[in-house]
Amino acid sequence: MEQMILTLIAALLVTSAASIQENSTVTPVILIPGICGSQIDGWYVKDSAPHYYCQKDSGGWTLLWLCIDCMIPPHHFVVQFEKLIVGLEKLPGYQRGISIRGAPYDFRYTPNTKVGQQYMIKLRYLIEETYELNGNTRVVLVAHSMGNPVTVRFLKSVTEEWKEKYIEGYVALAGVFGGAAKAIRSLLSGETEGMPQIIVDPLTMREFERTSPSVYWLLPNPQLFGDTPFVFSHDRNYSAHDYKALFEDVDIPQGPEMYDFIKDLPQFDREIGVDVYCIHGKDQETPFQFQYGDNSKFPDNQPTTLSGDGDGTVNIQSLELCKEFTTLRDYKTVTGFLATHLEILQRKDVIQYIADLLTKKNLKKNNDIGRKGDLVF
Ligand SMILES: *[C@@H]1O[C@H](CO)[C@@H](O)[C@H](O)[C@H]1NC(C)=O
Ligand SMILES: *[C@@H]1O[C@H](CO)[C@@H](O)[C@H](O)[C@H]1NC(C)=O
Repeated sequence: MEQMILTLIAALLVTSAASIQENSTVTPVILIPGICGSQIDGWYVKDSAPHYYCQKDSGGWTLLWLCIDCMIPPHHFVVQFEKLIVGLEKLPGYQRGISIRGAPYDFRYTPNTKVGQQYMIKLRYLIEETYELNGNTRVVLVAHSMGNPVTVRFLKSVTEEWKEKYIEGYVALAGVFGGAAKAIRSLLSGETEGMPQIIVDPLTMREFERTSPSVYWLLPNPQLFGDTPFVFSHDRNYSAHDYKALFEDVDIPQGPEMYDFIKDLPQFDREIGVDVYCIHGKDQETPFQFQYGDNSKFPDNQPTTLSGDGDGTVNIQSLELCKEFTTLRDYKTVTGFLATHLEILQRKDVIQYIADLLTKKNLKKNNDIGRKGDLVF
């Protein structure tokens, strides 16, 4: 009898040791989406799902400036993040909800709002829990678009000791580190993301965009863009230094206050204390400057948009800030086919790169110098 019990205990110990062993061999990954990404939550993180904005009848939030992904077709974004998830699931030992997890958030709010601060706490717990679920293995964060400035704020909110214990690395995909000119156009004239104006009135969408703190946070940063004029109107040209004057001139009553609320919240910081791996697209026509001409309806008319370099959504100056992280370990750019802001998530080479990183094939040692050239895949 005694021997039977001992055998049973031994068997149990072996079983649990085996499963811990199995779990501890994989480096877990947490995905931090960009604007509108909260749609992906329903797929794998049930209890932290705020709402399904993208599916609301009003269509309101689906038309924020980055939200083409929510509209055509409705599950477009899900499908796009899904490719990455499915790719990672093929790695031995990877499982949704355990070693592949998501951290969606209410993308209308910036990290300095109450909602944003609660998200920071939840994200910390999610990382700690994921570390434990995987046999105390450090976590890799993968952020896309606005998820990157959110990640920067998060990493600045935790201690160096905490990061050393819980974070293996951070993959920055298409990071909006210095804003995007497109956000100006959404605030001035509304953003329909190419949807026919018969179906969607940009001026209706504009009201949603003007009341969302995150759209102001995504305005081009004056420190990065200096005196570059973004808006040409009959009476005046406006640079990133002139937002408050612009909001007053075009009568966005809440604009100056909204801008004051986010203007000291950095989207970027050179020192974040974790290894960074950067990937972004380039050579895509990206909205840069907006000419309103002599039209007396300014800003209710749609401007003529002049393009610059970038990934089709985010301007190159903003994307390239990624090179400035002092802990940059690798830097890659993509061009040509499937190189736009959202398409980058579908690329086989990008998915393979992340998979290799998780399985330590291309992980850089702490003392490696960041590679800063334009390393095309
Ligand atoms: C990993 O750990 C979790 C939680 O302890 C468990 O549910 C899961 O079955 C484990 N997975 C493997 C592959 O052992
Ligand atoms: C705005 O800039 C353009 C191009 O630099 C210039 O031609 C124009 O005179 C400027 N307009 C005003 C009102 O300053």
